Amino acid sequence: MHTRVRAAIALSVLVLTPSAATSQETIPYVPSPMHVVQRMLEVAEIEKGDILYDMGSGDGRIVIEAAKKYGIRGVGSVGIDLNAELVAKARENAANEGVSHLVEFRAQDGLTVDISEATVVTLYMFKWFNNALRPKLQKLKTGSRVVAHDFDIDDWKPTRVEYVTPPRDDPSDYAESRTLYIWKVGESPAAS
Ligand SMILES: C[S@@+](CC[C@H](N)C(=O)[O-])C[C@H]1O[C@@H](n2cnc3c(N)ncnc32)[C@H](O)[C@@H]1O
Repeated sequence: MHTRVRAAIALSVLVLTPSAATSQETIPYVPSPMHVVQRMLEVAEIEKGDILYDMGSGDGRIVIEAAKKYGIRGVGSVGIDLNAELVAKARENAANEGVSHLVEFRAQDGLTVDISEATVVTLYMFKWFNNALRPKLQKLKTGSRVVAHDFDIDDWKPTRVEYVTPPRDDPSDYAESRTLYIWKVGESPAAS
């Protein structure tokens, strides 16, 4: 994500903090850097039979990377995005990567989608969206993993938090530390 966009997002959340649960600011398309995508998938501990949903899937990178890494083991990946143009782009990217048969992209509002089959959910969305999705996330099968990039969820303590530092040789302005919030549904957070 471009530094200025990240700053704008951080600022908007900061400014909106007191009413974050109700203020529904439009969530822009800002891609997760690929090293963050890789780590999100690793901390999700994806196994055979998992079904991953990326809520707000953008150009499809998380879903496509999951398919490339784990699709052969029967892991299904689904991307949901409000923006139909991005959904078309994600389908095109999946075709270019040869994984169209392993993925599904839908142009839908993520808050109206039935995600009950998901065992892994990834998020790079504003906090108000994560908060609104929380009741559905907490109803997922026990042991399901939720991995959120930079924005956590009110009143749901993560099982653990991890900081992702950029690769040493990354010259871009993506080169800043990110935070991953990881929940295992039905498991208490580790004592700190
Ligand atoms: C910050 S981007 C994250 C893209 C991708 N998940 C990633 O990490 O690279 C957020 C995405 O959410 C989409 N979006 C915004 N509101 C949404 C909603 N209510 N339902 C589904 N997608 C939404 C935007 O179009 C955008 O593509």
